[in-house]
Amino acid sequence: MADPVLSIQNLHKSFGALKATDGVSIDLHPGEIHALIGPNGAGKSTLIHQICGTVKPDSGTITLAGREIGRLPVAERARLGLGRTFQISSLAGEFSALRNVMLAVQAGQGSSFAFFKPVMRDRSLTDAAMDRLERVGLAARANVTASELSHGEKRQLEIAIALALDVKAFLLDEPMAGMGPEGSKVLTGFLDSLRQEAPILLVEHDMDAVFALADRISVLVYGRVIATGTVNEIRNDPAVRQAYLGDHA
Ligand SMILES: Nc1ncnc2c1ncn2[C@@H]1O[C@H](COP(=O)(O)OP(=O)(O)OP(=O)(O)O)[C@@H](O)[C@H]1O
Ligand SMILES: [Mg+2]
Repeated sequence: MADPVLSIQNLHKSFGALKATDGVSIDLHPGEIHALIGPNGAGKSTLIHQICGTVKPDSGTITLAGREIGRLPVAERARLGLGRTFQISSLAGEFSALRNVMLAVQAGQGSSFAFFKPVMRDRSLTDAAMDRLERVGLAARANVTASELSHGEKRQLEIAIALALDVKAFLLDEPMAGMGPEGSKVLTGFLDSLRQEAPILLVEHDMDAVFALADRISVLVYGRVIATGTVNEIRNDPAVRQAYLGDHA
C-alpha cells in the first residue's frame, strides 16, 4: 500500500486525570475516507485538535506527507496542507464566494509578487479561484455574498478555500451537524467526490453518512481505538456494537 498521507502514532493526551487520547494510532491513505466514530466524550475532537495544532499532545507523533508536524504551530501545519473546516468558520461573510477563494489563493501563494502586474495577477487569481469553485460545484454562486449561501453551500465554499491552499488531507469534525436529511444527502454526495482531491479524516455521528462514505472506520472509546476496519468489519464487530453502534448496526 502507498505511504499514508497522514500518520498518527501512539498519541497521548491527558486533561488532569482524564486520558482523552490514550495511545491512538491512525493512518490516512491516499484517496480514502477514514471515519472516526465513537460515543460523546470519546476524544474525537481532542484528536482533531492535536492534529491541527490547537491542542498539544503529551507524547506521540503526527506525520504529514512524511514530515513530523506534531510540534509545529497551527498556521504552519495549515500551510503544509492540513485542511480543517467546519468547526471554525474562516469565511468572510461580507465578501462574495469568489472573493473568499481569491483571498485563499493569494494566501497560498504568499505575497511576494503583490506589486507585480496587479491586473494580470488579479486575472490569474480569478481564474484559480473559479477553478476551485467549479471543483466543489459552486461556480454558479461565485458572486453571492458568503453570508447568503445556504448551510451546505458554506461548507462547499470552505472546501474550495481548502483546495486553494493545496490541501493534502482534510480533517472534518461533524460536517453533517445541524443539517436536515436533504442537506446531509447532498453533502454526502459531495464528500464522496472530495476524496479524489485529498483523503479525509471524518468525525461524524450520522451513521448513514459514515456507512455510505467510509473506506475504513476507526472506533474510539474512552480515548482508545478499540477497532479499525471496513464498514462490514466494524458493523459486525461485537465489541463495537456493544460500545457504540447498538441499533445503528
Ligand atoms: N480543554 C479541555 N480540558 C479538560 N477536558 C477536556 C478538554 N477538552 C476536552 N476535554 C474532555 O476530554 C474528553 C473528550 O472530549 P472530546 O470533545 O474530544 O470528545 P468527542 O469524542 O469529540 O465528543 P462529541 O462526540 O460529544 O463531540 C471529554 O471528557 C471532554 O470533557
Ligand atoms: Mg467532538
